[in-house]
Amino acid sequence: MAIKHFLQFKDFTREEFAYVFERSRWIKNQFKSYEKYWPLVDRTLVMIFEKASTRTRLSFEAGMHQLGGSAIYLNTRDSQLGRGEPVEDAAQVISRMSDVVMIRTFEQEIIERFAANSRVPVINGLTNEYHPCQILADIFTYTEHRGCIQGKTVAWVGDANNMCNTWLQAAQVLDFKVHVSTPPGYELQPELIAGVDAQRFQIFADPMDACRGADLVTTDVWTSMGFEAENEARIKAFADWCVDGEMMRVADPKAIFMHCLPAHRGEEVTGEVMDGPQSVVWDEAENRLHVQKALMEYLLLGRLETK
Ligand code: CP
Ligand code: NVA
Repeated sequence: MAIKHFLQFKDFTREEFAYVFERSRWIKNQFKSYEKYWPLVDRTLVMIFEKASTRTRLSFEAGMHQLGGSAIYLNTRDSQLGRGEPVEDAAQVISRMSDVVMIRTFEQEIIERFAANSRVPVINGLTNEYHPCQILADIFTYTEHRGCIQGKTVAWVGDANNMCNTWLQAAQVLDFKVHVSTPPGYELQPELIAGVDAQRFQIFADPMDACRGADLVTTDVWTSMGFEAENEARIKAFADWCVDGEMMRVADPKAIFMHCLPAHRGEEVTGEVMDGPQSVVWDEAENRLHVQKALMEYLLLGRLETK
């Protein structure tokens, strides 16, 4: 049987997401009630980081421990991965010693090649192109605060980066719409959103127009990891793509604000919005833990009945 991976958001169907969200709710509830839940005893997660992380590492590592398993952290600096061992060879070896692998790396192609040579499920913990675990947490968070996301409008303000591409994939799978506003020169790349129907998103030159009537307003750093050399040029280009109180005021009155974090107050978002009443960023960060536990449970054990 083919191994199930989570490399892009579109790897799962709407029905699979419904299942994972239902499990996330149950797993979160068990955790909040201090109920021990150890379905992954003796299972090992290997986490490979080629870029920095706070939330992704913590949520996967803590999550695996909370499910009764163990987690091993590898990075490029002190493993053979940084010394040119082919990714295919690394995948063969690592997947013979573990039950599930999470990778944060640069090009999506690296994780796709790893997965093609892996004996165990592989999870994308962020690539230059996509960040599916974050969008899993974001949609779960939206649902907790406002109910089903189907038919809603998400405003994306800023870089057409890994988060933005993943929002568009999610809109296609889960039937909602994204308003995208990026500065000139930082627009969506069609090849990264292949398969997303034109009616799933709308492009706006002015970020205020993108936010008008939106149910969720979201943004991300102007300079993603791996693009640091462009930082100065981006600071100039993105100056008007800062989510502020005015943008939140033209959104739907019940709109919420999200940011995957880390955030730079005064750049992509004002402190007023980030720390304001519409912001759900801390719930969003916490939910990484709960949804990824459900994700690992699903990839390793398949479907379980929620009592
Ligand atoms: N949002 C997110 O992925 O955070 P980290 O970079 O800290 O893992
Ligand atoms: N777009 C950002 C997200 C960080 C979690 C980056 O790739 O650096």
